[in-house]
Amino acid sequence: MEIIIEGIKKIEGQISVPGDKSISHRAIILGAIAQGETRVYHFLHGQDCLNTLECMSALGVKIEKINHSMLKIKGVGLCGLKKPVHILDAGNSGTTIRLLTGLLSGQYFNTVITGDNSLRKRPMKRVTQPLSLMGAKIRGENNNRFAPLSIKGSKLNSIKYTLPVASAQVKSALLIAGLFTGGETVITESQISRDHTERMLTFMKADIQVVSPKIKITGKKVLQGAEIFIPGDISSAAYFLAAASARKGSGVIIKGVGVNPTRMGIIEILKKMGAVIKISNVQMKSNEPRADIKIEGNELVGIEINREMIGKLIDELPLIAVLATQARGKTVVSDAKELRLKETDRITAIVTELKKMGASITEKEDGFEITGPTRLKSAVCKSYHDHRMAMSLAVAALYVDGKTVIKDAESIDISYPEFFNTLKELIK
Ligand code: S3P
Repeated sequence: MEIIIEGIKKIEGQISVPGDKSISHRAIILGAIAQGETRVYHFLHGQDCLNTLECMSALGVKIEKINHSMLKIKGVGLCGLKKPVHILDAGNSGTTIRLLTGLLSGQYFNTVITGDNSLRKRPMKRVTQPLSLMGAKIRGENNNRFAPLSIKGSKLNSIKYTLPVASAQVKSALLIAGLFTGGETVITESQISRDHTERMLTFMKADIQVVSPKIKITGKKVLQGAEIFIPGDISSAAYFLAAASARKGSGVIIKGVGVNPTRMGIIEILKKMGAVIKISNVQMKSNEPRADIKIEGNELVGIEINREMIGKLIDELPLIAVLATQARGKTVVSDAKELRLKETDRITAIVTELKKMGASITEKEDGFEITGPTRLKSAVCKSYHDHRMAMSLAVAALYVDGKTVIKDAESIDISYPEFFNTLKELIK
């Protein structure tokens, strides 16, 4: 699908955004292996989370869609999953394949899990290697580096492990595998990453202790089904915050957005760049904080982003590149090599596409450098079948005097099927 977007002067209005993608995945997986019923509200009906839902249904879990965003999951307990009759398909979703690899390693049956062309090129050794230290038996393509992964269910043992990469997916796979061991698994993080798994496990009464940078989990303790209210996804809200932030006269309020500190990098950076942001009505629901975020357009300045911040805004970096084209001075992003391992190589992709639009941007091995402000120009852009690329380019297109074409924009359904409708609401 090709989308044509026309530049605008400002965006204005009040919206809400769909449920958090990371929390939606975890609600299904942990709800499925809990005891009793879990009700999930404001579930993200995006393709990635639907893949997790399909996989868990294939493992014998009854998941009822009450409506578009509400699920009822009949938990089967830690030992109740069933051998699926076919290969599990994670589609485009790294979270699905990595978290489920942790889950499937400790079952009494064997499984095979795979994904689409993009997912089959993404690194899996980061999960299979530490899981094998726990006793997991996993084989993958090319010396166990890539999916399809063939997982032989095994008895797992607990380990002490320091994560060599900042990855919530790897951390979560190990915590979930830790539920199936007889002892205490200790994971040490060398860099911050999102903590939704820890929060949800705590909420569902797992035997877990978090004393940063260490997380300790003791296996075999039954999880309790729960009511999970999912906040709006800050990574989805970020597109509208960015669209409003650099245009004087813009003003947007987004209600009920997740403001988990491990995801707040985009807000911290926007503030440092000069955006006028107010956070109000902070509430804690299902052990996750949420709030209303108000932003007003302003003049932005360039910024340096490195190691300490990267984990808190990894998915927003292509969008920050777009913003930097509208900011005065230089923006430098470093220590972001992980971006090359996402749904596409997001460093090369964003540099290539923003150059087409006239940005002054240089690719670095671990990030990029941008000098602004630039009046972006019309172009035909590719989104590389990557949802975050497509939405970031859509925001860039709003800053163009004229029309921009974005190809393969259907990838937006991965995390935000209603993106263009919400954008239309804000364009007056
Ligand atoms: C996610 C973790 C991040 C993020 C991804 C979702 C999660 O990946 O980029 O979009 O739900 O745990 P890594 O853990 O690989 O950094």
